[in-house]
Amino acid sequence: MTGAARGIGAAVAERLARDGLALAVIDLDEADCAGTVEAIRSEGGTALALAADVADDGLVGDAVARVVAEVGPPTVLVSNAGIGPRAATSPLLTAPMMPTGSVGPVPWSAPAFSTDAASCSQAQRASCSRAQRTEGEEMEGFAPRTSFGYEASKRYDAEDTRGDEEQTVAFLARLASGRDALEFAVGTGRIALPLRRTGVRVDGIELSPDMVDRMREKPDGDKIEVTMGDMSRVTTGRTYGLVYLVYNTIGNLLSQDDQVRCFENAARHLTGEGVFVVECRIPTAPARPGRQYVDAEHIGVDHVGLDVCRYDPVTQILDENHVRISTEGIVFGPIRLRLAHPPEFDLMARIAGLRLRERWGGWEREPYTAASWRHISVYGRPADTAC
Ligand SMILES: C[S@@+](CC[C@H](N)C(=O)[O-])C[C@H]1O[C@@H](n2cnc3c(N)ncnc32)[C@H](O)[C@@H]1O
Repeated sequence: MTGAARGIGAAVAERLARDGLALAVIDLDEADCAGTVEAIRSEGGTALALAADVADDGLVGDAVARVVAEVGPPTVLVSNAGIGPRAATSPLLTAPMMPTGSVGPVPWSAPAFSTDAASCSQAQRASCSRAQRTEGEEMEGFAPRTSFGYEASKRYDAEDTRGDEEQTVAFLARLASGRDALEFAVGTGRIALPLRRTGVRVDGIELSPDMVDRMREKPDGDKIEVTMGDMSRVTTGRTYGLVYLVYNTIGNLLSQDDQVRCFENAARHLTGEGVFVVECRIPTAPARPGRQYVDAEHIGVDHVGLDVCRYDPVTQILDENHVRISTEGIVFGPIRLRLAHPPEFDLMARIAGLRLRERWGGWEREPYTAASWRHISVYGRPADTAC
């Protein structure tokens, strides 16, 4: 039995001993098991204290070999050691799933049980090993190139309009100050169309034909020239006083290389004095325990909105599915994003020959502070190279 030094583990061990079982009590430190072993022996039972880190294959193998030699082949395994995410590597904690496998050098055919304490760590382990399993893998069934397909494009403006379009447009129009603008990932023209109405010529780059189709259906939607393709690679063949990329869309590029390429492509499209504006949320996923979570985004009487997320700190990729459950059915809104903090973007800008000029916490030029949930960053060429 693991984790039997105290509390519920000690109580279970003593009870099993009373039932006639000889106990091998495994804990990190042999001395920690002394109390349990003494209690069992004082009642005439048999108990052996063993030291082993249950997450260490080799140490567990040695301990089990000693159990076999000194107590006999194990007939039951009780896993009570809660060792958090390290349980993913514990041969004892994985034994319940392969009762006829082996633990270290010892063939293992004993039935295995987990207490709540261990299964709690096993739940963590499950989430941890799931995260490990999926590192570098695509969200099941997710295709980035088609994630803004027909259905998503139909829903986009209805569901995703954020309510800050007016402020966004005012901010961008002021920066453009009459110069032409280029929107990376122009989408359905949510920003491009009202910006154009302020007198700014706006071109776009966009990957999804469906999103552009939705823009074309809107008044003046045919007035935005769109180059189809990947914003980190394609060019319009022109330069602009303003290039902008809003609504966290830098995150749609799923590697650091691609995000750097995107900055380089923005720089390529800028006039000497031109600026590149990036609007993005400050990542919160890296701080979430367990690296996966569900947020209740909306709770209504006849529908709820859930944000189901899993974050991989190795790739910095967030797999996210906005799930809307209502009396009409269930609608999924899957998205993969590579999250980065503002300083990483600042370095990407430097690689692209740009420097941070301004950073705001909102479109109304709210100061950017520790409490800001997003940043609006304005990059331009360093003063000595701007002309
Ligand atoms: C959240 S929407 C933003 C659309 C628009 N900028 C807005 O603010 O409403 C993300 C858009 O990025 C587009 N997109 C994703 N990856 C892209 C890429 N690599 N190159 C160009 N567009 C991309 C999607 O097709 C989608 O239209």
